Amino acid sequence: MRRLAPTLRDDGVNSDLIFLIRTILAACKEISFRLTQGELAGVLGSTLNENIQGETQKKLDIVSNQLIKDVLLESGFVRSIASEEEEHVVAGDPNGKYIVAYDPLDGSSNIDINSLVGTIFSIHLADDQLPADDDRQFLKPGSAQVCAGYVLYGPSTMLALTTGKGVKIFTLDKTHGGFLLTHDQVTIPKDTQEFAINASNQRFWEPPMQQYINDLLAGKEGPREKNFNMRWIAAMVADVHRVLSRGGLFTYPTDHKNPEKPYKLRLLYEANPMSYLVEQAGGISSTGYERIMSIQPESLHQRVSVILGSENEVRTCEKYHQP
Ligand code: F6P
Repeated sequence: MRRLAPTLRDDGVNSDLIFLIRTILAACKEISFRLTQGELAGVLGSTLNENIQGETQKKLDIVSNQLIKDVLLESGFVRSIASEEEEHVVAGDPNGKYIVAYDPLDGSSNIDINSLVGTIFSIHLADDQLPADDDRQFLKPGSAQVCAGYVLYGPSTMLALTTGKGVKIFTLDKTHGGFLLTHDQVTIPKDTQEFAINASNQRFWEPPMQQYINDLLAGKEGPREKNFNMRWIAAMVADVHRVLSRGGLFTYPTDHKNPEKPYKLRLLYEANPMSYLVEQAGGISSTGYERIMSIQPESLHQRVSVILGSENEVRTCEKYHQP
């Protein structure tokens, strides 16, 4: 099985970017190790703090954020970083070529139940016209990403990665610490009979999503004339990993549970990198009304409605949103 660096070199990825990806993965290996140790590493449970999103921080959120932040700032390749756990952009090396946005531990409510979590990252080129600590470094559409990926901490630790030449999946070989290529040319099937949504929010969704899900649930006897299966892991990394592995539709739609927070997922740390992976694997990613990767971000911690996955199913869902 092929190792990460030669595989990326064959794709024409430059050595600086390969070094940066490997730097992020060094921190992910450490996170993977601490997760495996669980209670023994003393990192489970919550802190008394809230993050910038107003959510209670888990100890492992903070540890993971710090691990990734430290390696990125020491790498010499990173001009600025933005993290879901940091209020502002953090300046790195003034000569760094790249900027990195990341969610250090996605799905962290799963930590305490020993279930799936992941790290998501998104890499852009730095903008020489802007100071390193300027939020505008990151206010670029997802279509400008040069690399995106996630590491899923599951029974095995897996990396899904794109540098714009399709999606590759690597598995961490814990015997020697390298990521080995286990799926080349990941392709999401165009059709699916599986969807993922937190159905407990149903009464708060907008009418188009209510109607779409009702029609899926009606199965063979309904307008879609086929039965659908539902899955919800409550960690976007794990749900998107299933979509990349066997297709499906994943959505966290607009809801009116809290009128001040109509969307849950973050554009820069979650929606954009996952959209890049999904599109590179032949799928679609949309808000229902527009392509996610074409959105011009207005703020660092902006949230967005997300519908992504198998092309024909996402297109069908989009049709429900048309006026
Ligand atoms: O944004 C964090 C996140 O944990 C996602 O990874 C996941 O898809 C979603 O929130 C789960 O939300 P809920 O707790 O409403 O099921």
